[in-house]
Amino acid sequence: MAIFNPMTLTDKRILVTGASSGIGRACALYASRLGARVILSGRRLDALEKTRLDMENSSTHTVVAGDLSEVAFATALVEQAVMDGKLDGFVHAAGICPALPIGVIATEQLTESMQVNYFAFLLLMKAFAKKKHVNPGFSAVAISSVSAAAGWPAGTLYAGSKGALSAAVRALAIELAPKGTRVNAVCPSNIHTPMFDALAGSGLNDDAALAKLKEKQPLGIGEPEQVAAAVCFLLSSASSFITGVNLPVDGGYLAQ
Ligand SMILES: NC(=O)c1ccc[n+]([C@@H]2O[C@H](COP(=O)([O-])OP(=O)(O)OC[C@H]3O[C@@H](n4cnc5c(N)ncnc54)[C@H](OP(=O)(O)O)[C@@H]3O)[C@@H](O)[C@H]2O)c1
Repeated sequence: MAIFNPMTLTDKRILVTGASSGIGRACALYASRLGARVILSGRRLDALEKTRLDMENSSTHTVVAGDLSEVAFATALVEQAVMDGKLDGFVHAAGICPALPIGVIATEQLTESMQVNYFAFLLLMKAFAKKKHVNPGFSAVAISSVSAAAGWPAGTLYAGSKGALSAAVRALAIELAPKGTRVNAVCPSNIHTPMFDALAGSGLNDDAALAKLKEKQPLGIGEPEQVAAAVCFLLSSASSFITGVNLPVDGGYLAQ
């Protein structure tokens, strides 16, 4: 007897941005274990290829490298992603985390995090609002952050971009529900990834700061796979009546 698996993604076509590293890479790997065919995107072709080769059924997945801070690449990515068929899901995990006190933010830095963390998601969702690009039941999942709801010093640029993303998810969910499209976000707290390691190494998180951080997360620092599990739940039909939510995946961070 086949085992009932409501989280199956068998033969679902899913685009994952940020698939070359951290949470996006974990989402791609997890989705492949659930049977999905994944289109992986990020800037570094070699790192995307590494993710692909580590996935289940690696030959069924494709990679599309490019920079999502460039509007033209978002258009090219959509064209490539739908080349072999309409999409069933989209995970926007590409992101950057500038940690800059307000006094030192340069004017040109104002737009960078918005472009990758927020505008790229909107540009891709603009395409996925069209029936010709997506199958009925299409599910989009944005990787937002607890920073959309809770502040930290030097987090202004990042928090603003994630706050915009989380708000847009709610609005898009309402707008696209009549088309059968669901739009949700997960909001991780601190997760072991290269982004987290870079912040930890920047001096903003010395040992004392790290200990304080761990106090804020009763379940400790999270792992990318723990975020990927929640993302794949939202991609799957197990969550078919859930749209417009910002789901904390935060080890208890926001509960305190
Ligand atoms: N780690 C955490 O503690 C944490 C907590 C909350 C939320 N998040 C969010 O989770 C998401 C993934 O973060 P992570 O921790 O996994 O970080 P990461 O390991 O640094 O991965 C970031 C990903 O974004 C891609 N990316 C960055 N700039 C890009 C650009 N201009 N164009 C295309 N792709 C770009 C990178 O690919 P390339 O380098 O190949 O371009 C990489 O795949 C981000 O949105 C982040 O804000 C992370």
